Amino acid sequence: MNVCVVILAAGRGKRMMSSKPKVLHLILGKPMIQYTIDAVKELRPRKIIIVVNSGAEEVKKQISNSHVSFVFQKELLGTGNALLGAKKELTDINDNTIIVLNGDSPLITSKTLKELLKNHRHSKNDLSFLSFIDESLSGYGRILRDERGRVSSIVEDKHATLSEKRKAKELNAGVYAMQPELLNYIGSLRVHRSSGEYYLTDLIEMLSKNGKKIEAYRCPTEDVRGVNTREDVSQVTEILNMRNISRLMKNGVTFIDPKRAIVHSSVSIGRDTVVYPDTFIEGRTSIGKECIIYPGVRIYESKLGNRVTIKDNTLIELSNIKEGSTIGPFAHLRPHNNIGRNVKIGNFVELKKSIVGDGTKAQHLSYLGDAIIGEDVNIGAGTITCNYDGIKKHTTVIGSGVFLGSDSQLIAPVEIGKGAYVAAGTTVTKNVPSHALAIGRVKQENIKDWAIKKQLKVQS
Ligand code: UD1
Ligand code: CA
Repeated sequence: MNVCVVILAAGRGKRMMSSKPKVLHLILGKPMIQYTIDAVKELRPRKIIIVVNSGAEEVKKQISNSHVSFVFQKELLGTGNALLGAKKELTDINDNTIIVLNGDSPLITSKTLKELLKNHRHSKNDLSFLSFIDESLSGYGRILRDERGRVSSIVEDKHATLSEKRKAKELNAGVYAMQPELLNYIGSLRVHRSSGEYYLTDLIEMLSKNGKKIEAYRCPTEDVRGVNTREDVSQVTEILNMRNISRLMKNGVTFIDPKRAIVHSSVSIGRDTVVYPDTFIEGRTSIGKECIIYPGVRIYESKLGNRVTIKDNTLIELSNIKEGSTIGPFAHLRPHNNIGRNVKIGNFVELKKSIVGDGTKAQHLSYLGDAIIGEDVNIGAGTITCNYDGIKKHTTVIGSGVFLGSDSQLIAPVEIGKGAYVAAGTTVTKNVPSHALAIGRVKQENIKDWAIKKQLKVQS
């Protein structure tokens, strides 16, 4: 679209009260600035320049995008100074429009940016920017207009007089489209003595005095409000979350209480799946059709097939679960499990790095780690794979059709051949051949009238 983008992200974000750069704060699992990058990328810009300062190295590391370049702002001398620093990267851009926006406004959408650009070009403006009205917010620049209604300047909230505050309800969103020759004016911005900063917003007054064509385009608050405080983080999170949930509801997913589910933007969910409240669906998780996700569940970076049921209070991380399986309640799938079809993992069962074949059941109180488990295996209550010897992890292999009695301990490395039985309470220390019974427990002895004799002893 013949645009170059500058994202201002050097500010310390003092109002966040954090030791981490503001733009790296995670919103629904994604650094705040990544939202802006993702939105501007849809304009296919020739360049994306990010102005950084505090935590520059961390910002560079966290941004999962190779098509951006960074400019280091040495001193935090305001948004005007930040853009001035980016100027040297914008020398060879011909007639490309420059889009400047703040890195702390993750609600911006590519649709709104495209509209701004369209209006900017259609009206042949020198500078266009986004404005909004929201009387509940403070701290934004206020747009002043002359008697003919033309934009004349922007006054920052903290410098505005009472009468300016009363008159000017239209706020600056911090998103600008400008012709490249305007960069020549940036160097002439004057410092504000009270704050020691050069304000990019002062450019408006300078340009209007020079007869340049400036226009503000109104857009909804929901697209442009920024993040300055933790309170803003929570409000912006709520808006972004609702966007994700609305998209899924439109595609046929039921959310019983949409406000009480948290869904990241890279999540996909199939038709007729029902999501109960107090659930977290995170990262690149994909959930199939007709699944049920009961309350208190968190699913991170996992893949669920169709008709999977996740019962209450279950945590699933980096795992695959195939069609028709049921997990939980109170189950924990630690990373890297592959669960087959129609598997049942029940109460207080923990799995780690395990493969579980179709139709296998582990319904109660088990730990299965580094296990390769075949099909139709019955894993009795309290079965434990003893996979760790204090130094190394070892594998347990359980063949198809095996029956593990309750409270079996399998000391890995060990292999149970297919169709074998392990008697309840057995500690398996060596391989069990297929179709054999392994039994390893002390033989029971019943001592006749033992309790009566004990009683008599006490009385005498
Ligand atoms: C700014 C605008 C204000 C607008 C608001 C919209 C100015 C002077 N004010 O105010 O009119 O309503 O955004 O959200 O521009 N930054 C730098 N270097 C600096 C200072 C800031 O890169 O030296 C970056 C910050 O990281 C941030 C952005 O610029 O991403 C805006 O800075 P911030 O201090 O948050 O400005 P606001 O007070 O929000
Ligand atoms: Ca801000």
